Amino acid sequence: METVVSGIRSTGNLHLGNYYGAVKNFVEMQQNYRCFFFIADYHSLTTHPTPSNLQDTVKQVLIEYLAVGIDPEKSTIYLQSHVPQIAELYLFLNMNAYVGELQRCASFKDKIRAQPDNVNAGLLTYPVLMAADILIHKATKVPVGKDQEQHLEMARTFANRFNRMYKNNYFPEPYAFSFDKNLIKIPGLDGNGKMGKSEGEGNALFLSDTPEIIRKKVMKAVTDSGPTELNQSKPPSVQNLFDLLKVVASEDTYQHFEEQYNLCQIRYGDLKKQLTEDVIKTTAPIREKINDLSKNNDYIRKIARIGAEKARDNAQKTIKEVREIIGFNY
Ligand code: TYM
Repeated sequence: METVVSGIRSTGNLHLGNYYGAVKNFVEMQQNYRCFFFIADYHSLTTHPTPSNLQDTVKQVLIEYLAVGIDPEKSTIYLQSHVPQIAELYLFLNMNAYVGELQRCASFKDKIRAQPDNVNAGLLTYPVLMAADILIHKATKVPVGKDQEQHLEMARTFANRFNRMYKNNYFPEPYAFSFDKNLIKIPGLDGNGKMGKSEGEGNALFLSDTPEIIRKKVMKAVTDSGPTELNQSKPPSVQNLFDLLKVVASEDTYQHFEEQYNLCQIRYGDLKKQLTEDVIKTTAPIREKINDLSKNNDYIRKIARIGAEKARDNAQKTIKEVREIIGFNY
């Protein structure tokens, strides 16, 4: 059976981008694969959270993983920092990751632009830690959104380089994976770019948002003054709303608004109302579970403890073999 590894940084609540980009896939995946789902709390340290902020967000992501349908009986669900073997593999992989290739990574360049006062070494080696997360379980399938494609390519590079260096075939190649044909990029509500936790107020719709908040955010989303010619192409902000509608609404509903747009009869108020309704329909049952689980600290702690043990057992096997391959067997 093939192995799946997927992670989410503990930098905030899950939004629709996380849900459609990665999470929804792994709910289905756990039927057919050996699955490891984890919370990337080491990765979140690049933005220097306070201890209490770190603890709150880790707990929230764990709760939301469970609320969307990950079953701890079928899958292993754990915190990255509970598995020190990941940090050890990260150290080994860092020895043959080159500074030049890390500096060329698109996400590193984005971070330099976004946080010029905090360009730390953890940002530079972020893709190496991500490769360690995946290779520690020798995973071949990694459910991610489009934004992580380059990181997966780098994970393959590091795996292959290790294999070549030590003349073996130890690590399999991991690939980005989606149940849809293509990897997904869910847009934000602010008219540009993707939905993200750090993209600013109003950009993201969170699974934990109340219907009232969802309504407000969608109503404020950027549009334009409407099409003036038949079959006119859409400006990015309007295209974003259609892209969101496509994932949450039925095909008929989507086609209806597409037609209205092409005939210059679109009323953005109606489109936003429909989008609001369909987002609420998707998130309401999840939010209910989030609220229930939030009251159950003991259960959450127990799940994290069991997951850590299972993940560590598997990681230990890999690290033992890697140490032998490198020559640490004196
Ligand atoms: P993170 O926490 O930014 O996002 C978690 C997952 O959600 C996907 N995603 C999106 N997909 C589509 N549209 C969007 N707007 C959108 N925003 C986020 C991401 O692609 C991701 O799949 N580096 C990773 C965390 C990580 C990881 C790993 C993932 C660390 N180690 C090992 C897989 C395997 C990250 O920052 O994801």
